[in-house]
Parts: sequence; C-alpha cells; structure tokens
Amino acid sequence: MANMKDAHTPLGCLAFEADIIDGKAFAAGLMARVKTEVDEIRSTGDKVPGLAVVLVGEDPASTVYVASKRRETQAAGMNSFEHRLPATTSQDDLLTLVGQLNADPTVHGILVQLPLPSHLDADAVIEAIDPAKDVDGFHIANAGKLAVGQTALVPCTPLGCIMLLKDRLDDLTGLHAVVVGRSNIVGKPMAQLLLQEDCTVTVAHRYSRDLPTLTRMADIVVVAVGRPEMVRGDWIKPGATVIDVGINRVIQDGKSRLVGDVAFAEMGHARAITPVPGGVGPMTIGCLLSNTLEAFRRAQARDAAAVKENL
Ligand code: GUN
Repeated sequence: MANMKDAHTPLGCLAFEADIIDGKAFAAGLMARVKTEVDEIRSTGDKVPGLAVVLVGEDPASTVYVASKRRETQAAGMNSFEHRLPATTSQDDLLTLVGQLNADPTVHGILVQLPLPSHLDADAVIEAIDPAKDVDGFHIANAGKLAVGQTALVPCTPLGCIMLLKDRLDDLTGLHAVVVGRSNIVGKPMAQLLLQEDCTVTVAHRYSRDLPTLTRMADIVVVAVGRPEMVRGDWIKPGATVIDVGINRVIQDGKSRLVGDVAFAEMGHARAITPVPGGVGPMTIGCLLSNTLEAFRRAQARDAAAVKENL
C-alpha cells in the first residue's frame, strides 16, 4: 500500500496518513471465490450460472463496460450471453427480448446496460425483467425488499461499497454515515444498506444546504454525484472513512485522466479512502458476478422445491 500512498502524496503537503482501500484486490478475491463456487457447480451438476447482458446502441463507455462484463463472466466460468441491438431498436422489440430472457432457463441474470437511447423507457424495461433475474437490483420489487429488510438482489455498486466498509471498519453500529447523492442506483440503496448496519444515515443531494457542514459531521462519507473532485479536504473530519463512487474523465495539463467525486490528494487526514481508479469501480463487476451466482442458487432452490411439491 505504501507505494500507492506515496504516488498520491501532493508535493509540499503534510504526509498522507489515510489508508487506501484497495478495491481492485478485494474484488479479485471476491471474483476468485465466485469462480471456485462456479467450478464446484460445474463439476457436480449439468447447469452453470448464465448472465445475459443487453446493449442497445454503441455508446462508447457502455461498449467498454459490456465487454469487460463478458470477459469477467467468462473468466468466472459462467455462461455469458451478449445481445447487441441497434440504437434504433423499438421499445416493443426490447421488451420482447427481455421476455425471452425471462423465460430462458439457462439465463439466471439479466442486465440491460444503461443509459438507453432517449426514445426508450428505461423504467418500463427494468420493470419487465423478472425480479429473480434482476442482478442489477433495480427492479421495484428488489428495491422494496431492500427497503423493508427482506432478502433482495442488491444494486452492485452500493453492495460493493458496503462490503469495503464492513471489511475496513468491521462494526458500523452507531456510526454517522452521510451519503451524497440520492440516485436509485447508488444513493438510495446505499442509505438502506447503511441503515441495515445500524448507522445513523443522512442522505444529502443537490438541494441540501451547507453540504460541507453535513459531511464534516460524518464518520463515513459516500459520494456518488458525478462531479469531479467536488468534495474537498475540509469537508471531511479527521479519521472519517471516505468512499468515492465517482468516475469522471477530466483533462488536466493536456492529459486525460480519471478522477473521483472527492479531491483525493486533500484526504490525507481521513482514516481510509477508496482511490479512483481502483476503488469502488472493480467492486461493481465483482458484485454483479456474485449476484448472478446468488440468482442461480435461488433458482436451483426453487426448482428443487417445485420437484418436491410434485412428488
Ligand atoms: N450503466 C452504468 N452502470 C450500470 C450498471 O451498474 N448497470 C446497468 N444496467 N447499467 C449501467
């Protein structure tokens, strides 16, 4: 870790004391555990988990994400089904494909890559996915179950964040967590997961007054707003743990680089922080594979129960 810290220590500043949370290494461990389980499933049965990914159009970032999902799914020993549709695909045709994937017993997880072209209704597409195959955890049934504390498929990015937090801090009970951002994909499910860990949770957003005062009160700050380096050093109290969900491409000194929503170099007084890249990002795909494995196991359990019922 020391070399990573040194790499980020700004010249002329105090020593950077914060631990750097290595999401890449954690995600590699998670994916290795998933692969071990899939290998076992393969050796004892005739089915393996299958993940279907649907990409509509050719958005460059989405194309890269989908390619890496395919690579990692295959590396974990799962079946990967990729469906690439033209940007002109109609809502009906997309819903027909989702219906086919819902009915396909070799598909245990379905992910429709977002954003969709603007003529398509993403909410309607998400609601058409069988909640049992909704490995994104975006379906209203999964969001509702998460909100009332029932077993659900949980959105991958906040699931990755809570894994990193629990690994780092162990017991989160009673800690004050401030989540900056209230999206359905990250902020809201993140708040639910923190509540389940008995944190005191504040959800801040673009209309929150005096955001720096709010974040300064927090033991845990999770930021998911998509604004490069918005959170500054003096927004964070010494010893707080900072989870940066942002991935923003910026041009600095004529060079393109990725930065988070947090000004990383100013966070030396934090207890721990996720870097960008190499923090939360790799966890998202690890959790996608873990959710697909979970969806497979639940499908197997349902099938076994159905067989027993019919005996
Ligand atoms: N686009 C960017 N991130 C995601 C994700 O986690 N799931 C889906 N479906 N689309 C995305």
